[in-house]
Amino acid sequence: MAKITASVYTSHVPAIGVALDLGKTQEPYWQPLFAGYEPSKQWMRDNRPDVIFLVYNDHATAFSLEVIPTFAIGCAAEFEPADEGWGPRPVPKVIGHPELASHIAQSVIQQDFDLTIVNKMPVDHGLTVPLSLMCGELDPQTQAWPCPVIPFHVNVVQYPVPSGRRCFQLGQAIRKAVESYDEPLKVQIWGTGGMSHQLQGPRAGLINREWDNAWLDQLIADPKACSETPHIDYVREAGSEGIELVMWLIARGAMADVAGGPVPTVKHRFYHVPASNTAVGHLILENNS
Ligand code: DHB
Ligand code: FE
Repeated sequence: MAKITASVYTSHVPAIGVALDLGKTQEPYWQPLFAGYEPSKQWMRDNRPDVIFLVYNDHATAFSLEVIPTFAIGCAAEFEPADEGWGPRPVPKVIGHPELASHIAQSVIQQDFDLTIVNKMPVDHGLTVPLSLMCGELDPQTQAWPCPVIPFHVNVVQYPVPSGRRCFQLGQAIRKAVESYDEPLKVQIWGTGGMSHQLQGPRAGLINREWDNAWLDQLIADPKACSETPHIDYVREAGSEGIELVMWLIARGAMADVAGGPVPTVKHRFYHVPASNTAVGHLILENNS
């Protein structure tokens, strides 16, 4: 049986990818941000998964306004880094896991979540920046990401977007799906995006440290209550793009305690302002069952 071993949560600011790709990580502006991910990179080396189920949002890159799936699961064998206007990031292509992805699609759809199945999808900063932050320097021999990744897109760009409650329930369905897969795979589930940021309008640049940290406290200690946070609270308190945080609830819903198991261990927690115009939040939770 496959198992969800841990969940990882992180912001996915595009400027972080640029800083990495241009070798700016030790510059005074960026150094404190990247220092916060040093323990995470070590943790990844010590806890290498067989597969990462990576929840992110496509930022009108693979999906234009012509077709907007609420939830889409990447079932392909590989996914190319997307060109977001400056050429694709110089990172490896993402190797998928079509067998596990198809199994999760089958199980989750049968649990009444209507996923869109995607067999071709360039992946943007929402997916590649978290991978770069967590994986650090790649194996010089293979120059590959350390394991296969199943990309899972959530629409948080065009309203109506799914509720935190729906995302939390979907996480629970994903856990059941993973646990009904025959092979003994160690699967990590990652939730990305957030924390507080607003990229446009009169409130552009909004950061709300106090709200972000209270939300993180509740995500850890009482995820069900956290999942009841209404949309308007994210937008009012964490800015228009703060709504990306609903994706973290998918990862949190997949943890063992939500299904009556032991509470997870907080392996790492980090918060940093600013990265570009965004508050960066990061958390690693390990399952204890
Ligand atoms: C920016 C874009 C994002 O998708 C995000 O989550 C944070 C910041 C940006 O363009 O700065
Ligand atoms: Fe984003």
